[in-house]
Amino acid sequence: MLSGKKILLGITASIAAYKSIILLRLLIKEGAEVKVLITPAAKNFISPVILSTFSSHKVYCEFVENEQWENHVLLGNWADLFLIAPLSCNTLAKMANGICDNFFLATYLSAKCSIIICPAMDEDMLNHKATKKNLETLSSFGHEIIDPKIGALASGIYGKGRMAEPEEIILFLEQKFTRNKILMHKKVLVTAGPTKEYIDPVRYISNESSGKMGFALATAFFEAGADVVLISGPVNINLSNKNIKLINVTSAHEMFEAVLKEQSNADYLILNAAVADYTPLKVANNKIKKENVEFSITLTKTTDILAELGKIKRQNQVLVGFALETNDFKKHAEKKLKEKNADYIILNKLEVNNPCFNADFNEVTIMNNLGESIDIPKNSKKEIAESIVLYLAKK
Ligand code: CTP
Repeated sequence: MLSGKKILLGITASIAAYKSIILLRLLIKEGAEVKVLITPAAKNFISPVILSTFSSHKVYCEFVENEQWENHVLLGNWADLFLIAPLSCNTLAKMANGICDNFFLATYLSAKCSIIICPAMDEDMLNHKATKKNLETLSSFGHEIIDPKIGALASGIYGKGRMAEPEEIILFLEQKFTRNKILMHKKVLVTAGPTKEYIDPVRYISNESSGKMGFALATAFFEAGADVVLISGPVNINLSNKNIKLINVTSAHEMFEAVLKEQSNADYLILNAAVADYTPLKVANNKIKKENVEFSITLTKTTDILAELGKIKRQNQVLVGFALETNDFKKHAEKKLKEKNADYIILNKLEVNNPCFNADFNEVTIMNNLGESIDIPKNSKKEIAESIVLYLAKK
């Protein structure tokens, strides 16, 4: 899985450094080429002889060794990935503040590759505001963090701070690298958010959709290598990824027109938006004044975008709809799957423990038109989106 990948394994001064030997062996077993870089203090915890033997490369530590200057820039440029495991509290703080008082930090500051960190420290150090701020800083630099785990710590205390296990780190890397390729050259259209159907210039009909799931899906498809167009109704989310083409719309009609324009090139059509089913027949030009005790608005059906795409979809175009249900979950979802001619329906069950709207977590069931279904258990919307993308890509 990691064949051909060049990984710079950074080891800092932590008791967890003993796990780095297993990590190194697993990386090599997975096909990666690994060079090891350690801080001077890490030598107190692990022998460079073991690391150089297993990696088949010298271990990098000092600017000058055997009267020769080591080139930290070249080392940083060589790597596809700089994996720092374990990352001590001290080196974390230096990285967050751009301190450069050893070869390890000079290499870090010149590296242009992806960086993954696996912090390891005692729970109190981890919980300190300074450490939290430093971790946030590294995250804001775009580095990925594999969270420390709960368990027995070197101090004898039981708590959070153990470095993630080598097997978990390997899994993380495999997912990262396969995700980056799995949908290369595929085109994906995602709809997200609610629509607003105006009654007059200041009032509208809408729903609770936050757009979080649709945006998470667009990001997950992008990370899987696809070109993504995201058509979104009004939401309060900033899309930080400027490589995803974002088209903002307001009403169901505008969303339908935008989808029609963009759909023909797409390999995957992911209709996650909570499109209004009805819209006012007439929009008043001026604010409607309250006059009578009763007041009614005539609504008319909007175009069902999913159903329209079900009529015109090309062979090999994968059409995925969503169903939000409060009862008879699978029965309603199956009906939508059939009637709208979708290939998949992703069922959201609105329940007390799964509010769906606006939440950061979700759980879904993916159903296909062959009568199969698979449950994706409760997780963050980001993780759910990644699981959906992986499932669809593998199919
Ligand atoms: N959908 C759509 N256009 C509409 C309404 C819905 O494309 N005008 C799509 C949604 O994006 C979703 C799927 O249809 O992928 C199901 O939406 P949902 O609101 O759950 O179902 P409806 O078909 O609207 O049926 P009902 O509201 O009766 O449950």
